[in-house]
Amino acid sequence: MLGFIFAVAKLARLHEQFTSTKTFTIDRNSLNEGFNFFERFIVLVDSDKIKVFSSKCTHLGCRITKTEGQELVCPCHGSHYNKNGEPVQGPAPRQLETPAFKISRDKIIITFVVG
Ligand code: FES
Repeated sequence: MLGFIFAVAKLARLHEQFTSTKTFTIDRNSLNEGFNFFERFIVLVDSDKIKVFSSKCTHLGCRITKTEGQELVCPCHGSHYNKNGEPVQGPAPRQLETPAFKISRDKIIITFVVG
């Protein structure tokens, strides 16, 4: 049992060693109403609300790069997601991830884990 605990602690240290947190800053003035695509993120401006989603499809990880109507569409196998990032069509098994973000008067700062 003690060996198992040491193995878990060692794995946790390795995980910390190979992961880190980064930030990505977006100029609010560059955003349009609707979905805005960045390499890792999709920012939805919906009237006075802002939502941020990971652009990584929850099916097999393709980057989501387009819309159809009011929905995001994965180019690989056609999953559709609504404005809350919830899958509404196709094989995607769960909601898009939503990274932590802060909004100031002129910026959106997204914090995400890499590694
Ligand atoms: Fe997006 Fe398969 S990877 S639907």
